[in-house]
Amino acid sequence: MSESILNHFKDLKSKGLNIDITRGKPDSSQLDLSNKLLKMNVEPITDDGVDLRNYGEPSGIKAARELGASLLDAPIGNIIAGEQSSLLLSYQTILAHYIHGKPSSWKSLEKPKFICPVPGFDRHFRIFDDFDIEVITVPLIEDGVDLAKLKNVLDENQNVMGIICVPRHSNPSGEVYTDENINGIFTIGKAYSDKFLFLFDHAYLIHDFLPTKKQTPTWQLALNNNTNNQTVIVTSFSKVTFGGGGLSFLAADGDNLDLIKKTRLSMVICPDKINQQRHVDLFKNKEDIESHMTKHANLIRPKFETSYEILGSISDDYGTFSKPTGGYFITYKTSKPIASEVIELCSVLGVSLTPAGATFPNSNDPNNNIIRIAPTFIDEDELKIAMDVFITSVQVAHLGLKT
Ligand SMILES: Cc1ncc(COP(=O)(O)O)c(C=O)c1O
Repeated sequence: MSESILNHFKDLKSKGLNIDITRGKPDSSQLDLSNKLLKMNVEPITDDGVDLRNYGEPSGIKAARELGASLLDAPIGNIIAGEQSSLLLSYQTILAHYIHGKPSSWKSLEKPKFICPVPGFDRHFRIFDDFDIEVITVPLIEDGVDLAKLKNVLDENQNVMGIICVPRHSNPSGEVYTDENINGIFTIGKAYSDKFLFLFDHAYLIHDFLPTKKQTPTWQLALNNNTNNQTVIVTSFSKVTFGGGGLSFLAADGDNLDLIKKTRLSMVICPDKINQQRHVDLFKNKEDIESHMTKHANLIRPKFETSYEILGSISDDYGTFSKPTGGYFITYKTSKPIASEVIELCSVLGVSLTPAGATFPNSNDPNNNIIRIAPTFIDEDELKIAMDVFITSVQVAHLGLKT
């Protein structure tokens, strides 16, 4: 068997492949779904008399905020419709508390810390790195965050300022948090401090491609737990219309919302209202967005199913993988500590994967066994080859074969 694996490895190497499955990006057929945006004429004055061409409306135009309110199930008074990046809104939220946090700015505290469930999103870790805020990790389990571990971490640490979660189709392992789990996060965090910040990055809020368990809207859960003043929820259209060319939305309340608005005003006088208007002309309501997202789902689903089939074709003695019902990633967990070796072998065969360790702070995967796969950007023929490269590399590394 080892010989046939090695022969196949050599055969793949001779093809001179160049395939990139590093980042979760929509493919061009998905982008085509929103091509209307490229040609839309925008009336310069809105129905409520706002001149889109000028400064004004720092929290976004009313129609865009209404769309955000319907997506995040929060009242329009709690919504900012921002620029094109929800990551920017997350960054601005952390920045706001770092500089102006009440009763104490985070920068004035000794060793502020923030909790990131792992595996997680590399760019979240980068935000905290920028502020020299220590990241404390808590493992994800099937239902969401490991609540017992979360409680332990809070029992043992001072100045933990909050937690950032991707509660639906978590990046990269695809967990969909249960309501009980989110309620548990609120209960534990609120008991720790009435300033503990719950930052929910809902990047994949409407990105199901297979039946997915229902969640009560996160804003509603925050209200039920009386934690709305400590909660910030962000989402965007980056994987609805154009990557980096959509709209972003934020829901928050009270002092928290005021703080974020104040900090944003120091850097952006107002968002691009013309792009906001284009989007609200394209999507009149939530139903329009949902039917658009069904088209995305139909394009994405076959790619995930193909990946599941090929990854499942080798024994789970080699490793196991997540089977998300939405989002953009699959996580492969090797049974031996060989993730970096597998990624290196894939690169030798011409397939680039997210660097080893990227789903952990400081790029340090303690067990060296988590690999993120992003199957959406390439076409299905390339994907089949990439998955073949992947399972071949897993086998070679696991069996310790010399190539
Ligand atoms: C969890 C998560 N948050 C945020 C983003 C980026 O979103 P945006 O383009 O709205 O900044 C991504 C993109 O991969 C993501 O996976």
